[in-house]
Amino acid sequence: MLITGTSSGVGEAAAKAFLADGWNVVATARDPATVLREVDDPRLLRARLDLTDTHSITTAFEQASSRFSAIDVIVNNAGIGLAGPLEGIGLNQLREHFEVNVFGVAAVCQAAAAHMRSLGHGLIINVTSLTGRTGVPFLSPYCSSKFAVEGLTEALHYELRPFRIRVKLVEPGGVRTRFSHIWAEHPAYSPAADNVRQTMVRGGEKAALPDRVAKVILAAAKDSSDRLRYAATDAVPALFMRRLLPDWAWRKMLSKGFGLG
Ligand SMILES: NC(=O)c1ccc[n+]([C@@H]2O[C@H](COP(=O)([O-])OP(=O)(O)OC[C@H]3O[C@@H](n4cnc5c(N)ncnc54)[C@H](OP(=O)(O)O)[C@@H]3O)[C@@H](O)[C@H]2O)c1
Repeated sequence: MLITGTSSGVGEAAAKAFLADGWNVVATARDPATVLREVDDPRLLRARLDLTDTHSITTAFEQASSRFSAIDVIVNNAGIGLAGPLEGIGLNQLREHFEVNVFGVAAVCQAAAAHMRSLGHGLIINVTSLTGRTGVPFLSPYCSSKFAVEGLTEALHYELRPFRIRVKLVEPGGVRTRFSHIWAEHPAYSPAADNVRQTMVRGGEKAALPDRVAKVILAAAKDSSDRLRYAATDAVPALFMRRLLPDWAWRKMLSKGFGLG
């Protein structure tokens, strides 16, 4: 298996979980020297992969294939955060955000599909978020990038099925990692945006540890069913509520939860 963004958080925990489960693991990062420093295991290959550098994606796949020949599971885990009032965000900043969270993920899916078509089977797991299923106030850049990956993955599900390539989504809620959003500001949205930001920071302090998401990713990789979506951490109850409630009631609950009128 090959996974992106293993220098920290969910990616690091997932790489460890797959190794502990006996898999060959290609753990990638922008700087491979930051990957699982304490691990000395012949089943681990560290490789450089920067989602904004297509050449590095091709090279990582070449290194992975020459070491382990078949790479039948790919986990698109790496991602970044950008938040704040949309008016306060420059379009170039938004483009850079999508370059990582959307175009980088799409590029890895392209490389994975080509590799897996030649194998005759495979599985691509894309890590999105609860915020890829529901809009959250002042998270429009991040939500839109994760919604994009949800749509990309769901469409690929049909497209790749004839080649025996399955795709899956892992959708975590809060996870306690070094992940944080770059917060843009705009005076017209104060204090509402600051209150939402503080609510999120407080939520993050109590959030689940990354191992919880790693277990869900591993379970998804071992699940031979056609299931597409796997919620993780507090996205499980939240998405359950989302399904139960009418849209207006869900939005009212979210507004209240973030202290918006
Ligand atoms: N934490 C949460 O509350 C939460 C909730 C829902 C979903 N998620 C999603 O879960 C995934 C993992 O996040 P995390 O919480 O584990 O955050 P994290 O600890 O910040 O890890 C993110 C990883 O992405 C890598 N990365 C950043 N830019 C990259 C690029 N251009 N190319 C390749 N790798 C890059 C980082 O590596 P560097 O060392 O190179 O920076 C890092 O290893 C992300 O997709 C995130 O959106 C997180």
